[in-house]
Amino acid sequence: MAELAIPDPWVVLLIGAAGSGKSTLAARHFAPQEILSSDALRGAIAGDEADQRATGAAFAALHRELERRLAAGRLTVIDATNVTVAARASIRRLAAAHAFPCVAIVLDLPAPLVQARNAARAGRVVPAGPVERQLARLAATLEAGTLAVEGYAAVLHLRDPEAVAALTIRRVPTPRAATPRVATGPGGR
Ligand code: CTP
Ligand code: MG
Repeated sequence: MAELAIPDPWVVLLIGAAGSGKSTLAARHFAPQEILSSDALRGAIAGDEADQRATGAAFAALHRELERRLAAGRLTVIDATNVTVAARASIRRLAAAHAFPCVAIVLDLPAPLVQARNAARAGRVVPAGPVERQLARLAATLEAGTLAVEGYAAVLHLRDPEAVAALTIRRVPTPRAATPRVATGPGGR
């Protein structure tokens, strides 16, 4: 597996259904304070990571915290399923407003493995139906080639657990002035 070089600071957008191993990957490659997790924020707000009533508040908090980290010039990992166009767009918009490129890491693992991992979890288990819908959304996104045109500086598509296990990430300290510009609207830097 090739090494993934990530200029630091960039935004790292994890994409994958519940149970695909996003939090595991994030914990392996990044420091806890660099990771913004929608589940952790739901837990902090509602006292229960699975409380869907806190989803709106959790994402508002995630976006606020991302803004703060971007303003401070910090590399940030977004640990949420990000299987919808809207979820990904909201992160990219914030990143672009601060002239931060985004790299997407896609956990596109076999559905039975994802479902089995989710079902076997000690803590929060997501019902199989929503996981199936997330897997279907991701499959449709990949089939349509949508990620290639959404405007990521790089997309790493991991298709099997071996590729995930072999992944190495090298961080390349990159002065902000040298980071390539990504889609910024009028008035963007
Ligand atoms: N897991 C595993 N081997 C891996 C990666 C994950 O056995 N290489 C297990 C984890 O220990 C966990 C389950 O699979 O019990 C789901 O992994 P997790 O990282 O929690 O998945 P997420 O994608 O973060 O799921 P969610 O969106 O629900 O947070
Ligand atoms: Mg997780």
